[in-house]
Amino acid sequence: MSNRNQIRFDTTESDFPAFAATILKEKLEALQLLGRRINIAVSGGSTPLPVYHLLKDFDLQWELFSFFMVDERFVSAMSDQCNYFNINNILFQHIPSESYAMIKGDESIETAVENYELLIDQKVPKEHGTFPVFDFILLGMGDDGHVASLFPNTEALEEQSRFVTANFVPSLDSHRITLTYPVIQNASEAMVLIKGKRKIEILDEIYNSETMYPMHKLVKSNMRLTWIIGKGE
Ligand code: 6PG
Repeated sequence: MSNRNQIRFDTTESDFPAFAATILKEKLEALQLLGRRINIAVSGGSTPLPVYHLLKDFDLQWELFSFFMVDERFVSAMSDQCNYFNINNILFQHIPSESYAMIKGDESIETAVENYELLIDQKVPKEHGTFPVFDFILLGMGDDGHVASLFPNTEALEEQSRFVTANFVPSLDSHRITLTYPVIQNASEAMVLIKGKRKIEILDEIYNSETMYPMHKLVKSNMRLTWIIGKGE
């Protein structure tokens, strides 16, 4: 990885949760030294869940942290497909941090998007410019190179002015809500958790070829990115 802002740490799949949790803990410890409210956006999917499970037991100043969602599936707030529902069960309900779900109840997807955009506008400071600056964003990557709910060939990839947008993903027949590229790129720092052969192949393509995946845009934006990689044994 020749970009000095972007580094990778490799481990085995079995060591992955403990390894990732330890690095994440170090990041959060460094952030809490700021001594102010720290705004973090986290991803769902399956990869980070065992990491969150370990994280909840760490002795951090949790009351300094506010957790937002990177993206959400537009499903019932009580569904096991709901990212907030899963992360809440594993992490949020065990720590005294503030956390904010993208879906509250039976509102329309447009209302959920508008409400979350307003929430971010009110809670997350903007340093020089129009977009909020998250202190840290935790990302995953899909087998098709998607990041957040920015999937290949979908409309949300083009969004340049909003903080949050709805996105329909035809390949999954799924409606999503996602932070947009300008918001993710504007974060002070991000970490990407990936495991498995296919994702590692995509990672290699992203850094060594011109094949375009949604994750490419973040890599090319030169943002501070740490990859944590779990390799099959
Ligand atoms: C989601 C996510 C998404 C995720 C990737 C990887 O709602 O699915 O937030 O962006 O990070 O899809 O998911 P896995 O970890 O399940 O492979």
